[in-house]
Amino acid sequence: MTASSVPPLTVDHVTKTYASRVRGRGSFHACEDVSFEITPGAAVSLVGASGSGKSTLAKIITGVEHPSSGSIRFGDVGVGKLRGKALRSYRSDVQMVFQDPYGALNPLHTVEYMVGRPLQNFLKMPAARARDRITELLETVGLAPAGQFLGKLPHQLSGGQRQRVVIARALAADPKLIVADEPASMLDVSLRAGVLDLLVKLRVDHGLSLLYITHDLLSARVVTDEILVLHEGKLVERGNTKRVLQNPQDAYTVQLLDAIPNPFAAGDAAPPASTAADDGR
Ligand SMILES: Nc1ncnc2c1ncn2[C@@H]1O[C@H](COP(=O)(O)OP(=O)(O)O)[C@@H](O)[C@H]1O
Ligand SMILES: [Mg+2]
Repeated sequence: MTASSVPPLTVDHVTKTYASRVRGRGSFHACEDVSFEITPGAAVSLVGASGSGKSTLAKIITGVEHPSSGSIRFGDVGVGKLRGKALRSYRSDVQMVFQDPYGALNPLHTVEYMVGRPLQNFLKMPAARARDRITELLETVGLAPAGQFLGKLPHQLSGGQRQRVVIARALAADPKLIVADEPASMLDVSLRAGVLDLLVKLRVDHGLSLLYITHDLLSARVVTDEILVLHEGKLVERGNTKRVLQNPQDAYTVQLLDAIPNPFAAGDAAPPASTAADDGR
Protein backbone atom coordinates (compact mmCIF):
# COMPACT_ATOMS: atom_id res chain seq x y z
CA MET A 1 0.00 0.00 0.00
CA THR A 2 1.30 3.42 -0.84
CA ALA A 3 0.64 6.48 1.26
CA SER A 4 -1.17 8.09 -1.66
CA SER A 5 -3.99 5.54 -1.53
CA VAL A 6 -4.74 6.43 2.08
CA PRO A 7 -7.38 9.03 2.88
CA PRO A 8 -6.69 11.71 5.50
CA LEU A 9 -8.22 11.30 8.93
CA THR A 10 -10.00 14.42 10.12
CA VAL A 11 -10.90 15.19 13.71
CA ASP A 12 -13.50 17.92 13.33
CA HIS A 13 -14.48 20.02 16.36
CA VAL A 14 -14.65 17.03 18.67
CA THR A 15 -15.96 17.50 22.19
CA LYS A 16 -16.54 14.71 24.70
CA THR A 17 -18.54 15.44 27.81
CA TYR A 18 -18.50 13.04 30.75
CA ALA A 19 -20.38 13.04 34.01
CA SER A 20 -17.77 13.91 36.59
CA ARG A 21 -16.42 11.00 38.61
CA VAL A 22 -16.48 13.32 41.60
CA ARG A 23 -20.01 13.26 42.97
CA GLY A 24 -21.96 16.47 42.74
CA ARG A 25 -19.51 17.99 40.23
CA GLY A 26 -21.85 17.68 37.25
CA SER A 27 -20.23 17.16 33.86
CA PHE A 28 -17.03 18.28 32.21
CA HIS A 29 -15.34 18.20 28.83
CA ALA A 30 -12.66 15.49 28.62
CA CYS A 31 -11.79 17.09 25.29
CA GLU A 32 -13.21 20.26 23.85
CA ASP A 33 -13.51 21.48 20.29
CA VAL A 34 -10.46 19.54 19.09
CA SER A 35 -9.72 19.68 15.38
CA PHE A 36 -6.77 18.30 13.46
CA GLU A 37 -5.95 16.23 10.44
CA ILE A 38 -3.61 13.32 9.90
CA THR A 39 -2.53 13.40 6.31
CA PRO A 40 -1.56 10.17 4.55
CA GLY A 41 1.75 8.82 5.79
CA ALA A 42 2.15 11.51 8.44
CA ALA A 43 3.33 10.82 11.94
CA VAL A 44 1.59 13.13 14.36
CA SER A 45 2.13 13.11 18.07
CA LEU A 46 -0.44 14.15 20.61
CA VAL A 47 1.24 15.27 23.79
CA GLY A 48 -0.31 16.15 27.13
CA ALA A 49 -0.19 15.46 30.83
CA SER A 50 -2.18 12.67 32.43
CA GLY A 51 -5.90 13.48 32.36
CA SER A 52 -5.62 15.92 29.46
CA GLY A 53 -7.97 13.84 27.29
CA LYS A 54 -5.51 11.92 25.12
CA SER A 55 -7.03 8.47 25.55
CA THR A 56 -10.51 9.89 25.15
CA LEU A 57 -9.49 11.21 21.73
CA ALA A 58 -7.83 7.89 20.85
CA LYS A 59 -11.03 6.03 21.72
CA ILE A 60 -13.13 8.44 19.67
CA ILE A 61 -10.82 8.12 16.67
CA THR A 62 -10.87 4.34 16.83
CA GLY A 63 -14.65 4.32 17.23
CA VAL A 64 -14.69 2.84 20.74
CA GLU A 65 -16.38 6.01 22.02
CA HIS A 66 -18.59 8.50 20.25
CA PRO A 67 -18.04 12.24 20.42
CA SER A 68 -20.66 14.34 22.25
CA SER A 69 -20.34 16.78 19.38
CA GLY A 70 -18.17 17.07 16.30
CA SER A 71 -17.10 14.19 14.10
CA ILE A 72 -14.31 11.97 12.81
CA ARG A 73 -13.97 11.53 9.07
CA PHE A 74 -11.80 9.13 7.12
CA GLY A 75 -11.64 10.55 3.66
CA ASP A 76 -15.15 11.78 2.92
CA VAL A 77 -16.82 9.34 5.23
CA GLY A 78 -18.15 10.26 8.68
CA VAL A 79 -17.01 7.45 10.95
CA GLY A 80 -20.07 7.74 13.21
CA LYS A 81 -22.30 6.85 10.30
CA LEU A 82 -20.44 3.71 9.28
CA ARG A 83 -22.30 0.42 9.52
CA GLY A 84 -21.75 -3.16 8.44
CA LYS A 85 -18.97 -3.78 5.96
CA ALA A 86 -17.82 -0.17 5.93
CA LEU A 87 -17.46 -0.20 9.72
CA ARG A 88 -15.48 -3.44 9.60
CA SER A 89 -13.23 -1.92 7.02
CA TYR A 90 -12.63 1.16 9.21
CA ARG A 91 -11.88 -1.08 12.19
CA SER A 92 -9.20 -2.80 10.19
CA ASP A 93 -7.86 0.43 8.66
CA VAL A 94 -7.40 2.12 12.02
CA GLN A 95 -5.61 -0.02 14.57
CA MET A 96 -4.83 0.83 18.15
CA VAL A 97 -1.78 -0.07 20.20
CA PHE A 98 -2.54 0.37 23.87
CA GLN A 99 -0.42 1.45 26.77
CA ASP A 100 -0.68 -1.82 28.63
CA PRO A 101 0.78 -4.81 26.77
CA TYR A 102 -0.18 -7.00 29.73
CA GLY A 103 -3.89 -6.17 29.57
CA ALA A 104 -4.04 -6.14 25.76
CA LEU A 105 -3.33 -9.84 25.24
CA ASN A 106 -5.54 -12.73 26.29
CA PRO A 107 -3.40 -14.82 28.67
CA LEU A 108 -4.84 -18.07 27.31
CA HIS A 109 -4.00 -17.49 23.64
CA THR A 110 -0.77 -18.25 21.83
CA VAL A 111 1.11 -15.66 19.83
CA GLU A 112 0.20 -17.50 16.63
CA TYR A 113 -3.50 -17.38 17.46
CA MET A 114 -3.51 -13.70 18.44
CA VAL A 115 -1.58 -12.46 15.43
CA GLY A 116 -3.60 -14.76 13.17
CA ARG A 117 -7.02 -13.54 14.25
CA PRO A 118 -7.07 -10.30 12.24
CA LEU A 119 -5.90 -12.28 9.20
CA GLN A 120 -9.01 -14.42 9.46
CA ASN A 121 -11.45 -11.77 10.65
CA PHE A 122 -10.50 -8.89 8.41
CA LEU A 123 -8.65 -10.40 5.47
CA LYS A 124 -10.39 -13.81 5.35
CA MET A 125 -6.98 -15.37 4.77
CA PRO A 126 -6.97 -19.18 4.47
CA ALA A 127 -5.18 -20.93 7.34
CA ALA A 128 -2.54 -22.37 5.01
CA ARG A 129 -1.38 -18.89 3.99
CA ALA A 130 -1.85 -17.37 7.43
CA ARG A 131 1.06 -19.29 8.95
CA ASP A 132 3.55 -17.73 6.55
CA ARG A 133 2.08 -14.29 7.07
CA ILE A 134 2.21 -14.64 10.88
CA THR A 135 5.86 -15.63 10.61
CA GLU A 136 6.55 -12.63 8.42
CA LEU A 137 4.72 -10.26 10.79
CA LEU A 138 6.62 -11.53 13.83
CA GLU A 139 9.91 -11.05 12.05
CA THR A 140 8.83 -7.56 10.96
CA VAL A 141 8.34 -6.55 14.60
CA GLY A 142 11.68 -8.04 15.63
CA LEU A 143 10.45 -11.33 17.09
CA ALA A 144 12.85 -13.60 15.26
CA PRO A 145 13.19 -16.40 14.60
CA ALA A 146 9.41 -16.42 14.58
CA GLY A 147 9.27 -20.17 15.21
CA GLN A 148 10.43 -19.53 18.77
CA PHE A 149 7.45 -17.28 19.46
CA LEU A 150 4.49 -18.87 17.66
CA GLY A 151 3.52 -21.23 20.48
CA LYS A 152 4.27 -18.87 23.35
CA LEU A 153 1.66 -17.54 25.78
CA PRO A 154 1.77 -13.92 26.98
CA HIS A 155 3.24 -14.82 30.39
CA GLN A 156 6.21 -16.42 28.64
CA LEU A 157 7.14 -13.09 27.05
CA SER A 158 8.79 -9.94 28.36
CA GLY A 159 6.90 -6.64 28.35
CA GLY A 160 8.77 -5.48 25.26
CA GLN A 161 8.05 -8.73 23.45
CA ARG A 162 4.36 -8.49 24.36
CA GLN A 163 4.14 -4.99 22.97
CA ARG A 164 5.76 -6.29 19.77
CA VAL A 165 3.07 -8.98 19.57
CA VAL A 166 0.42 -6.26 20.00
CA ILE A 167 2.06 -4.30 17.17
CA ALA A 168 2.25 -7.42 14.96
CA ARG A 169 -1.45 -8.03 15.61
CA ALA A 170 -2.24 -4.43 14.66
CA LEU A 171 -0.18 -4.78 11.47
CA ALA A 172 -1.94 -8.04 10.59
CA ALA A 173 -5.11 -6.08 9.89
CA ASP A 174 -3.23 -4.21 7.14
CA PRO A 175 -4.00 -0.83 8.72
CA LYS A 176 -3.67 2.62 7.21
CA LEU A 177 -3.36 4.39 10.54
CA ILE A 178 -1.95 3.18 13.83
CA VAL A 179 -3.02 5.00 16.96
CA ALA A 180 -0.45 4.21 19.62
CA ASP A 181 -1.58 5.39 23.05
CA GLU A 182 1.52 5.66 25.25
CA PRO A 183 2.82 2.42 23.72
CA ALA A 184 6.10 2.43 25.61
CA SER A 185 5.27 4.10 28.89
CA MET A 186 4.61 0.91 30.84
CA LEU A 187 7.76 -0.75 29.58
CA ASP A 188 11.11 -0.81 31.24
CA VAL A 189 13.09 2.29 30.34
CA SER A 190 15.62 0.07 28.57
CA LEU A 191 12.93 -1.28 26.23
CA ARG A 192 11.10 1.93 25.36
CA ALA A 193 13.36 3.16 22.61
CA GLY A 194 13.18 -0.19 20.82
CA VAL A 195 9.39 -0.03 20.62
CA LEU A 196 9.40 3.60 19.47
CA ASP A 197 12.03 2.85 16.85
CA LEU A 198 9.89 -0.01 15.62
CA LEU A 199 6.82 2.23 15.19
CA VAL A 200 8.86 4.78 13.29
CA LYS A 201 10.29 2.09 11.04
CA LEU A 202 6.86 0.58 10.33
CA ARG A 203 5.48 3.93 9.41
CA VAL A 204 8.20 4.40 6.83
CA ASP A 205 8.33 0.82 5.53
CA HIS A 206 4.56 0.35 5.27
CA GLY A 207 3.47 3.87 4.33
CA LEU A 208 1.30 4.04 7.44
CA SER A 209 0.08 7.10 9.22
CA LEU A 210 0.88 7.18 12.90
CA LEU A 211 -0.78 8.99 15.77
CA TYR A 212 1.64 8.68 18.63
CA ILE A 213 0.17 9.62 21.98
CA THR A 214 2.47 10.43 24.86
CA HIS A 215 2.92 12.46 28.01
CA ASP A 216 6.60 12.63 27.16
CA LEU A 217 7.28 15.55 24.87
CA LEU A 218 10.86 14.43 24.40
CA SER A 219 9.91 11.08 22.89
CA ALA A 220 7.71 12.85 20.35
CA ARG A 221 10.73 14.24 18.53
CA VAL A 222 11.91 10.74 17.71
CA VAL A 223 8.61 9.50 16.38
CA THR A 224 6.99 12.32 14.57
CA ASP A 225 7.07 15.33 12.33
CA GLU A 226 4.15 17.21 13.84
CA ILE A 227 3.23 17.85 17.45
CA LEU A 228 -0.16 18.65 18.92
CA VAL A 229 -0.19 19.76 22.55
CA LEU A 230 -3.30 19.02 24.56
CA HIS A 231 -3.96 20.82 27.84
CA GLU A 232 -7.10 20.15 29.86
CA GLY A 233 -8.91 18.84 26.82
CA LYS A 234 -7.98 21.68 24.48
CA LEU A 235 -5.36 21.85 21.79
CA VAL A 236 -3.11 24.69 22.86
CA GLU A 237 -0.33 24.33 20.34
CA ARG A 238 0.40 22.56 17.09
CA GLY A 239 3.16 22.66 14.57
CA ASN A 240 6.20 21.15 13.06
CA THR A 241 8.03 19.13 15.70
CA LYS A 242 11.27 21.03 15.48
CA ARG A 243 9.52 24.39 15.67
CA VAL A 244 7.41 23.41 18.69
CA LEU A 245 10.42 22.06 20.56
CA GLN A 246 12.72 24.94 19.71
CA ASN A 247 10.28 27.80 19.75
CA PRO A 248 7.16 26.88 21.69
CA GLN A 249 4.43 29.51 21.48
CA ASP A 250 2.10 28.44 24.23
CA ALA A 251 2.95 28.90 27.91
CA TYR A 252 1.87 25.34 28.65
CA THR A 253 4.25 23.89 26.05
CA VAL A 254 7.04 25.96 27.57
CA GLN A 255 6.14 24.50 30.96
CA LEU A 256 6.24 20.94 29.56
CA LEU A 257 9.61 21.57 27.96
CA ASP A 258 11.03 23.14 31.09
CA ALA A 259 10.05 20.03 33.01
CA ILE A 260 12.31 17.86 30.84
CA PRO A 261 15.80 17.38 32.20
CA ASN A 262 17.33 17.04 28.77
CA PRO A 263 20.64 18.45 27.60
CA PHE A 264 19.52 18.22 23.94
CA ALA A 265 16.27 20.14 24.43
CA ALA A 266 17.47 23.20 22.56
CA GLY A 267 19.61 21.29 20.07
CA ASP A 268 19.11 20.64 16.41
CA ALA A 269 19.07 16.91 16.03
CA ALA A 270 17.28 14.28 18.01
CA PRO A 271 19.57 11.72 19.54
CA PRO A 272 18.70 8.44 17.85
CA ALA A 273 16.40 6.50 20.15
CA SER A 274 18.46 3.39 19.75
CA THR A 275 21.50 4.92 21.40
CA ALA A 276 19.47 5.35 24.57
CA ALA A 277 18.67 1.70 25.04
CA ASP A 278 19.27 -1.80 23.89
CA ASP A 279 17.53 -3.46 20.98
CA GLY A 280 14.27 -3.56 22.87
CA ARG A 281 13.80 -7.28 23.21
N1 LIG B 1 -15.69 7.04 31.01
C1 LIG B 1 -15.37 8.13 31.71
N2 LIG B 1 -16.26 8.70 32.58
C2 LIG B 1 -15.93 9.82 33.27
N3 LIG B 1 -14.76 10.46 33.18
C3 LIG B 1 -13.84 9.93 32.33
C4 LIG B 1 -14.10 8.75 31.55
N4 LIG B 1 -12.99 8.47 30.80
C5 LIG B 1 -12.09 9.44 31.09
N5 LIG B 1 -12.59 10.30 32.01
C6 LIG B 1 -11.93 11.50 32.54
O1 LIG B 1 -11.63 12.33 31.42
C7 LIG B 1 -10.38 13.00 31.62
C8 LIG B 1 -9.45 12.67 30.48
O2 LIG B 1 -9.11 11.29 30.56
P1 LIG B 1 -8.16 10.58 29.51
O3 LIG B 1 -8.68 10.85 28.16
O4 LIG B 1 -8.03 9.17 29.93
O5 LIG B 1 -6.81 11.38 29.74
P2 LIG B 1 -5.29 10.98 29.38
O6 LIG B 1 -5.31 9.80 28.47
O7 LIG B 1 -4.72 12.23 28.75
O8 LIG B 1 -4.62 10.69 30.68
C9 LIG B 1 -9.87 12.53 32.99
O9 LIG B 1 -10.25 13.50 33.93
C10 LIG B 1 -10.58 11.22 33.19
O10 LIG B 1 -10.75 10.96 34.57
MG1 LIG C 1 -4.37 7.94 28.59
